[in-house]
Amino acid sequence: MVSRRSGAEPFKIKAVELVGITTREQREEILKRAGYLQFRIPSEYVYIDLMTDSGTGAMSDSQWAGVMMGDEAYAGSRSFFHLEETVRDIYGYRYVIPTHQGRAAENILMLAQTKPGSYVLGNMFFDTTVAHIEHKQCLGEEFMIPEGLDTGSAHPFKGNVDVQRMEDFIKMRGADSVSMIIITVTCNNNGGQPVSMRNIREVSAVARRHGIPLFFDSARFTENCYFIKKREPGYQDKSLPEIAREMFSYGDGATCSAKKCALVNIGGFLALNSRDLYDRCLEYLVLFEGYATYGGLAGRDLEAMSRGLREGLAGPYLEDRIGQVAYLAGELEAAGARVVKPAGGHAVYVDCKKTVPHLGMDQFPADALGVALYLDSGVRTVGLGTLAFGKKDAATGDWMPPDLELLRLAIPRRVYTDRHMDAVADSMASVLRNPAQIRGLRLVKETPRLRHFLSVLDLA
Ligand code: F0G
Repeated sequence: MVSRRSGAEPFKIKAVELVGITTREQREEILKRAGYLQFRIPSEYVYIDLMTDSGTGAMSDSQWAGVMMGDEAYAGSRSFFHLEETVRDIYGYRYVIPTHQGRAAENILMLAQTKPGSYVLGNMFFDTTVAHIEHKQCLGEEFMIPEGLDTGSAHPFKGNVDVQRMEDFIKMRGADSVSMIIITVTCNNNGGQPVSMRNIREVSAVARRHGIPLFFDSARFTENCYFIKKREPGYQDKSLPEIAREMFSYGDGATCSAKKCALVNIGGFLALNSRDLYDRCLEYLVLFEGYATYGGLAGRDLEAMSRGLREGLAGPYLEDRIGQVAYLAGELEAAGARVVKPAGGHAVYVDCKKTVPHLGMDQFPADALGVALYLDSGVRTVGLGTLAFGKKDAATGDWMPPDLELLRLAIPRRVYTDRHMDAVADSMASVLRNPAQIRGLRLVKETPRLRHFLSVLDLA
């Protein structure tokens, strides 16, 4: 039994949206029609949607008021200048380029900064970052510390870079062959795990020693700042904006998917210090997104993003937010799931190799547990394991699974209460009470790429 959290949400509810209530028989039918793929389930049939924390948050009354105040001028929009001022204030970078979402900022930065055949180094890249690295014919190299890949390790900063290994690589291949370093804060792919200020400082020293530019993937930077304040000696008495300023001061710029910590449903940006790089990025911005002061967004989106960025860095909000993730992690563990520890900033990740060991990797355990959970209660999650990242041996047809087989339960920001979390945990407990009933999955129709978005499955 997990004890309830003290205090209450630091907001009250002004508008409500009804959730989908279905019966088990309906969900059986819905799953069949969806080819057992959660992405194909219409959201009206989802009770609690933990598929992603991206673009699914609730905006505040101030942000909605900002929507009405949005300046829709094609050029020189007032809302752009508000965003520019906010980003300069929080990040400390001079130039701000709005984009329609995070991956567009990644595209523009990499087009302007990489050379084909060069390396991009980092802790662990998100999928779209990997795709953009490959699209620019570059090679991505990840230097995560070993604890970052150990789901049982209690290391407080499991997003940290193995600095020595990264520097050895730079010395071996030559600094000229490295286009940039990207630190992802927090690191999504291993559990929303933070990077310490000390580690960022050390990576920055390596980058500067070798003349390599350093960027942040700052999709979840406010959550990273909160972990630094809570866990890193010397930061307890610093304010969150001070921590953010110091963190970004060690780099040359950042991409941001504002759909996460900046609390908007759509939006992103690129922030930079170099005028030369900014000028090169602008050409690609105009080509792919739009003019310099809107970048593929409406003025109202820019206004909401500017306000959301400040709200996302507020202490009471972050304490509640990260507390809710930890609360769900504790409840799921009590329900019999083995979760990645410590709980991260935006999601709870269930280690499916340990939680449903009776399923072989060829039965896609993470997705199978997700299907069982949806069938039980209508809770939607996302599998991050063999189906998404595994490779099939062309000669033998055997699956080569990735290191981790995880089911992600990502919590949208300011959307669900702890009672929703209780309902998720109750459902997990009912599913795991009889694990033999959790059926594996098999592929009926396979696509060469983006398998976890496009394939068709059936119960094994
Ligand atoms: N970087 C990180 C760390 C992300 O998690 C994401 C998106 C992106 C970049 C790309 O941003 O979606 O705005 O283009 N993550 C979502 C998720 C999709 O569900 O984790 P985007």
